[in-house]
Amino acid sequence: MVESIHRPTKLIIHNQAIVENVANEVKRLPQGRELFAVVKANGYGHGAVATAQAAKAGGATGFCVATIDEGIELREAGFTEPILILGVVPVVYLPIVAEYQLAFPVNSLAWLTQAQNYLAKTTLSAPLLAHLKVDTGMGRIGFQTKAEVLEALALIEGLPALVFDGIFTHFATADEAEDGYYQEQHDRFKEILESLPQKPRYVHVSNSATALWHEEELGNMVRFGVAMYGLNPSGHALKESYPLQPALEFVSQLVQVKQVPAGAKIGYGATYTSPESEWIGTVPVGYADGWLRKMSGFSVLVEGVHCEIIGRVCMDQFMIRLPHALPEGTKVTLVGKNGDQEITLQEVADHLDTIHYEVACLLSERIPREYQG
Ligand SMILES: Cc1ncc(COP(=O)(O)O)c(C=O)c1O
Repeated sequence: MVESIHRPTKLIIHNQAIVENVANEVKRLPQGRELFAVVKANGYGHGAVATAQAAKAGGATGFCVATIDEGIELREAGFTEPILILGVVPVVYLPIVAEYQLAFPVNSLAWLTQAQNYLAKTTLSAPLLAHLKVDTGMGRIGFQTKAEVLEALALIEGLPALVFDGIFTHFATADEAEDGYYQEQHDRFKEILESLPQKPRYVHVSNSATALWHEEELGNMVRFGVAMYGLNPSGHALKESYPLQPALEFVSQLVQVKQVPAGAKIGYGATYTSPESEWIGTVPVGYADGWLRKMSGFSVLVEGVHCEIIGRVCMDQFMIRLPHALPEGTKVTLVGKNGDQEITLQEVADHLDTIHYEVACLLSERIPREYQG
């Protein structure tokens, strides 16, 4: 999808907010614990390279991504810090992972056997940085038992191409007030960690929610994701431990303004009928930008006033009811502050009955990202 720069619609990313969110967390970390900025999924929709730069300015010493290609994007942008891929890497791509010095999870004995076979007939340009992933209760990827972890370590020892660089787990409920399940996962990981004959360079368990709300004793690195973008990982459930600053603003402009008579129909399906004469504005944003059809009935801000989205959201445009006539070119705020009002990503998520993570990730590549500060 081509970035549409010749259209009055853009995401404004406030770099300073990211710098400060990261710096505030780095200040709170116990001595010797590093922060890796999670910039997967195009920096949660905010743009990977620019947010990685801002996170680095705030004190991040490494990065996490989901895929090999996301790691390559950072390397090609010039980052020399450690980069950890969080998703499973098919063994056929090990030469690329070695070439770009991307660390990756080792998640099962089956994966190790495949790697063993593959490496027997392949020469690599550099050592492979393996992080053993322990599934303590997320049920996604990783070893489930201590016995499996120890067997994996023994296999890794027999593979000179692999360096045991890290061990980690991921909490399923760190963003909830009830911490019983969190404690169970913590205890399982601690037991496995204590059984290791030697510790790797990185031990890591914390995501944003863990960093914000748990006095986690384990680990020398945190994987700091959504909070670096200024978003509360728990949605409404828990209060931020310190003020997070949202980094993203989504703005557009009115491209047409018209007065319609009572009884006018608006949009596909003619689902909206004006009850009286109204001023209608057209905004050049649609579901192809990630502003979903379900956003109908929500509002955007124009001159500090909430204006309802009426009719169906189209692929590239939607219509709003204006309080009065306004000039074409008037600013429209979909997310962010306008006058003394604000629309947050959390409010968009509430309207869509989802989480802000999903809303941010859906903002499509078509929308230009402008970095300020
Ligand atoms: C393994 C892992 N670690 C860390 C994170 C970052 O989580 P958060 O954005 O909640 O900080 C994620 C995000 O999905 C993840 O999958």
